[in-house]
Amino acid sequence: MQFRALLENTDHETTRKMTKPLALISHAFRVASFPFALFRGSWFFIALFVVLFDFGHAAKAQSIQEGQSLFGTKCYSCHNIGSGDKTGPDLKDVTMRRTKEWLHEFINMPASMNARGEATANQLFKKFSPTVMPDQGLTTEQIDSILAAITDLTNKNEVFVPAGAKLSRAIVWTDVPAGMQLFSGRVKLQNGGTACISCHSLKGVGALGGGTLGPDLTAVNIKYRDPELIAILQNPAFPTMATQFSTHALSNEEIVQLFALFQNAKQLNPMPATQAGVTTLDPKFFVIGVAAMLLVLALMNLGWRNRSRGVREELVRRATQ
Ligand code: HEC
Ligand code: HEC
Repeated sequence: MQFRALLENTDHETTRKMTKPLALISHAFRVASFPFALFRGSWFFIALFVVLFDFGHAAKAQSIQEGQSLFGTKCYSCHNIGSGDKTGPDLKDVTMRRTKEWLHEFINMPASMNARGEATANQLFKKFSPTVMPDQGLTTEQIDSILAAITDLTNKNEVFVPAGAKLSRAIVWTDVPAGMQLFSGRVKLQNGGTACISCHSLKGVGALGGGTLGPDLTAVNIKYRDPELIAILQNPAFPTMATQFSTHALSNEEIVQLFALFQNAKQLNPMPATQAGVTTLDPKFFVIGVAAMLLVLALMNLGWRNRSRGVREELVRRATQ
């Protein structure tokens, strides 16, 4: 009660009228009671708490979101979260498997960590050889946000699904031949990227096969599920391709057409050669093969018959002249 009286009595006149020691005591009381005065208005604390709590929440959500989008463009070509190893290991749980310091160093400099003989890096490099994760050159905050996104999905036991890895429209049948034209370079890529065939081959495209710098893509839609493959076409993070396509990205139309081509290749060749075994021949293919050969022979016969008739007619004409 006394505090209150003093606090409410902030009138300088009154203070000055007091004797000096009394004024001092009053001042001391006023200072000491300041926090209690605030406490009186406990709404202040509640509001402060709500604001800070909310702010923390929003900042965390934003960082997770940023991490998800970074992961989608920079890491998803090679890593899943929760759906198995790809070119690199599945990163589910990785924030529990490794320390934060280890992760920060590894993500930006995996090769040099391996070179200096760090045991875990050595193990990983051995297991995933010959692929080597490229240095990522990310800021501390960017890595933190990616790690926050990984932890968030791990805790929720959810799989990473990239937000944008969808085709811009439905596939129509003309997309397959259009994709073939793009793949083989007969139609130029809109933004000037190099034709896929200079580094890749695909069964049925190009009589001489394609380049060998990149892997054969016949079974690529078996190796990668649809959103994984679409994300690679949108944003190939493999070093060799990134140098080409980070500045010459495929257009949305080209992505639809190339995806259609790979999906079609999967339907024509449902089993990758390594799984099907090279020695087993599907009887269906044998029948198709024989039929195709007969057709070719029949066509050739047709052509030759005309030609020989032409010659014969000429001979007959000359003989009867
Ligand atoms: C070109 C493929 C590629 C890209 C892109 C890539 N990585 Fe990797 N990552 C690998 C490979 C391969 C390994 C296994 C070690 C090795 O051989 O380099 C690996 C290992 C890791 C590991 C160690 C996993 C463990 O079990 O300890 C982490 C963490 C990691 N990568 C994070 C990232 C992050 C984050 C990004 C994106 C910013 C990224 N990687 C981009 C290929 C890649
Ligand atoms: C300059 C050479 C080059 C060109 C051009 C190129 N790629 Fe690649 N691509 C590569 C290399 C090398 C890899 C393997 C990366 C790795 O595994 O580290 C690759 C990997 C891929 C993969 C993943 C394959 C797998 O099995 O993991 C896909 C899909 C792909 N490329 C699609 C394409 C498409 C579509 C085009 C044309 C629009 C294209 N690439 C043009 C070099 C190239």
